[in-house]
This record gives sequence, C-alpha cells and structure tokens, in this order.
Amino acid sequence: MARGSLVVVGTGIKIANQCTIEARHHIETADIVFEVVGDKLAQNFVHSLNANVVSLQHLYGHDTARSDTYEAMIGTILGAVREGKRVCAAFYGHPGVYVYPSHESVKRARAEGFAAEMLPAVSADACVFADLGFDPGWIGCQSFEATDFVVNERRFDPHAVLMLWQIALVGDRTLRVFESDPRRIALLAEVLMEEYPPDHLVTVYCAATLPIGAAQVETLPLRRLAEARVTQESTLIVPPLGAVQPSAKRLALVEERLAGL
Ligand SMILES: C[S@@+](CC[C@H](N)C(=O)[O-])C[C@H]1O[C@@H](n2cnc3c(N)ncnc32)[C@H](O)[C@@H]1O
Repeated sequence: MARGSLVVVGTGIKIANQCTIEARHHIETADIVFEVVGDKLAQNFVHSLNANVVSLQHLYGHDTARSDTYEAMIGTILGAVREGKRVCAAFYGHPGVYVYPSHESVKRARAEGFAAEMLPAVSADACVFADLGFDPGWIGCQSFEATDFVVNERRFDPHAVLMLWQIALVGDRTLRVFESDPRRIALLAEVLMEEYPPDHLVTVYCAATLPIGAAQVETLPLRRLAEARVTQESTLIVPPLGAVQPSAKRLALVEERLAGL
C-alpha cells in the first residue's frame, strides 16, 4: 500500500485570487482534499479543482464544542493518511494562523512517521497591512486573540499597533458560542479603555473575500465600539497612542557594546 502523506494549504482570504500556485497544485493533485474554507463560493472554488473534495464544515454544530469539532477534523484527516492516501487539507486564509486542527494534524501525522507539511498563505493580517496602509516595521505591531487579551495578564505596548482577532466571540471560554453580542464588544472596549482614552479611534476591519468588492473599514471612537458592525470575520485594529520614546539606557548600552563596530 502507498505511504500516506499530508499537505496542509491555505486558500487565502480573497476567494481564488489569493490561492498560491503551490497550494492550487496540491489541491489539484491530491487523492483526497478535506476543506474548511468558509462560505459556499469558497467551497465551490476548491470543489472545482479536484473531483474528490470532502467538506468538514458540517462538523461544526451549535451542540458541539469547537474542541470536539477540531478533534473530529483531525481524526478524519489522519484516517485518510493512514489509509495510504495523498491527502490535502485546505483551510481559508493562512492554514497556520488561528487554526488548531491544521497544526495538530501535521504534528500527529509526523509523530506517526508520515510525511506532512504546511504551506504558507495570505492571512487576514497580510490584508490589513495592504488595505490600511501601514508597515508593521514602521511602528511595531502586536497581535492577540481577543479573549486571550482580555482574560490574561498581558503586557503589551500601546505605542505600537494592537491587532485583536476573533473579537466577535470575545470573552467566550466555552468554545460553544457562534454568534456575537454587543455586550461582548462593550466589554472589550471597557478593557481597552484601561489603557486608551475613550476618544481613541479604532478600526473594525473585514478584508474583501470576493474578487470584486472592497474591504469593510469602520473607524469609530473606542467608547462607541459596541455600535460597530461585528461579524465572525472582524479584526480590530487599535492604532498607537503616540510615538514611542527612545530609551536612554538602551542607547547607552548599544554605544558601549557595539563601540568600534
Ligand atoms: C479562526 S481565525 C482564521 C484566520 C485565518 N486562518 C487567517 O489566516 O487569517 C478567524 C479570525 O480571523 C480574522 N479574519 C478572518 N477573515 C477575515 C477577514 N475577511 N477580514 C479580517 N479579518 C478576518 C478575524 O479576526 C476572525 O475572527
């Protein structure tokens, strides 16, 4: 029997247009493709590339914790690898950005001795830099999952951009919630106002997923954040409070340690 293998790919955020040549090749040539790529149009795109595409999206359910759904996805993907198939698993965006079953499938397949790899792809933050027109190298950029940011003792720098993912479900620790609620967003605003003034302008961002159409960019003061239209695809961008201050201590250290270089 042929030795099974696994390639995990991402299809990008914008349907079809951001799927790399490499990812497309693996989708087209796999014995079986498992997909979790989002809406019907994105699914149709993947189904158009290979006659043997199986959607795993039905594994999500209101009565099922997402952790159980992820285990079911991993089990299905690894089951096909163990059967000797060349398996491709396709997720939307970058398959390794805020996606548990992708990393875990690669890890477990390798632990069982199968060839397994993940390919990079266009993720939501890649779209942010292009659409909102800033370079993370200019002012610094830090990124957190929204619930992680709220419930943990995070030390972050308000003088760099703050990017918060999965804001729609902020505060949910059951992994059983699927719909947003303005009270969640109000809670997030309250936590952010511990550090930023209420009038600080923030942006709720949603990159375009269709080849035609533009990104949705809603900018409003932090105190009014709960009024924003928030969906499962929303990412919050909080601009810096102001310019970062140079550290006299560190500048002296650089002078001392690197003198003569
Ligand atoms: C489960 S994560 C998946 C991320 C995806 N793998 C990626 O590479 O961008 C879902 C979160 O990604 C962000 N996201 C997904 N689609 C987006 C879009 N079209 N525009 C902006 N952010 C998006 C949001 O923060 C959303 O809550």
